[in-house]
Amino acid sequence: METAEGSKLWGGRFVGAIDPVMERFNASIAYDQRMWDADIRGSKAYVKALEGAKLVTTEEKTQILQGLDQISEEWTKGVFVIKADDEDIHTANERRLKELIGTAAGKLHTGRSRNDQVVTDMRLWLRDAISTLTDSALLLISTTVERAAAEIDVLFPGYTHMQRAQPIRWSHWMLSYAVALRRDVERLQEIKKRVNVLPLGSGAIAGTPFNIDRELLRRELSFDEISLNSMDATAQRDFVVEFLFWASLCLTHLSKMAEDLLLYSTKEFSFVTLSDAYSTGSSLMPQKKNADSLELIRSKAGRVFGRCAGFMMTLKGLPSSYNKDLQEDKEAMFDCYDSVHAVLQVTTGVISTLQINASVMEAALSADMLATDLAYYLVRKGVPFRDAHALSGKVVFTAESRNVTLTQLTLDDLTAISPLFESDVASVWDYSSSVEQYSATGGTARSSVGEQVQHMRTWLAQQKTFTTLNSESG
Ligand code: ARG
Repeated sequence: METAEGSKLWGGRFVGAIDPVMERFNASIAYDQRMWDADIRGSKAYVKALEGAKLVTTEEKTQILQGLDQISEEWTKGVFVIKADDEDIHTANERRLKELIGTAAGKLHTGRSRNDQVVTDMRLWLRDAISTLTDSALLLISTTVERAAAEIDVLFPGYTHMQRAQPIRWSHWMLSYAVALRRDVERLQEIKKRVNVLPLGSGAIAGTPFNIDRELLRRELSFDEISLNSMDATAQRDFVVEFLFWASLCLTHLSKMAEDLLLYSTKEFSFVTLSDAYSTGSSLMPQKKNADSLELIRSKAGRVFGRCAGFMMTLKGLPSSYNKDLQEDKEAMFDCYDSVHAVLQVTTGVISTLQINASVMEAALSADMLATDLAYYLVRKGVPFRDAHALSGKVVFTAESRNVTLTQLTLDDLTAISPLFESDVASVWDYSSSVEQYSATGGTARSSVGEQVQHMRTWLAQQKTFTTLNSESG
């Protein structure tokens, strides 16, 4: 390994060589090279501001821009050579610029610090990443909504506390996750506003003493706003934390969805069959088909929340302004992005290829799940709900103690509990008419599930990025 002496971009005041162990410990190039494009975009904008401030001539600006374009080409082609001394993406690109264009390269960093540079790069990178995640999430939502529309007639047991609760539509279950994901998309758009703020021009801590036009930088880099305080701009990572929390919550939703599907795909439930494309076998037990996709989807929530908690612990207790601890922000951000991006794509694949076993789902419904409807039958005859609940409870107790289902009780058995039971009570013993009662907005009746589908379709159509994605792909 080369020694640091003399070749470091910050080497001026240093006389001895850096310990190679420390050099590796300090370097972030292994992962922050992912931001090469953002770093070059930031520098291209910055050199224009330098020209405006008469800190570089027009010829020097042109030279720097051409050099940066060449570096960009090297990264694109995968031929950029990282040297042992390249500490991070900022120093690597600048070192290469100097090799390509000579002394003019030394003017690029005038009034700039890696403190405002790194956070500019991250904001540019995350802004693009958020667009990709938004498109992936919208694709998953539309897949789920269209599946809900297609399978609206399928009924199955709804559970609370993992106990049989009430009959619901299978589509109602699917839409419950689609609406959670919609909130995730909306939350991500909120976060994007706070990501899209320009820190460049903040220097190391105090701002810039030169006539750097920050409005020009904002326009060139398409930021919505300019940061208001240079100390805050270089030190705060709220936008990273918000993103890590967002990823944690989004993956919590998908983890729960995966858990439901894992249960539904067991032999015991057999409600759904996972496509072979998203399953794996066992190396020991030939009969096994494991739902590894769902287990990995479930697992990522823990991993990502760990990143979020870990990075917040890094921030807690830091003194003002930039500290090297902040370098930990990038692996957390990249890892959470990669995890969510993969989970969104795999979940879309799982949902679009899953087979449902509608007859098994419906056969799993049982008469005890209609006990609430039996109470509502009495409510409709004027019985206060609390009393109706108690009377229906007695019916359940009678059936249980005789080891029969509710439907096997005779009218005499029922009238012995309440004289208000009449022959029309038979109409309660029908799962389809049971779900159809729940027609208020948000309920599981066909009409209100249909309303949910329409509502989601309208919302999806309003999401611009999604429309762009669709028109590009087809
Ligand atoms: N690699 C550093 C990071 O990721 C860049 C900023 C370094 N700034 C400094 N003053 N040493 O945070």
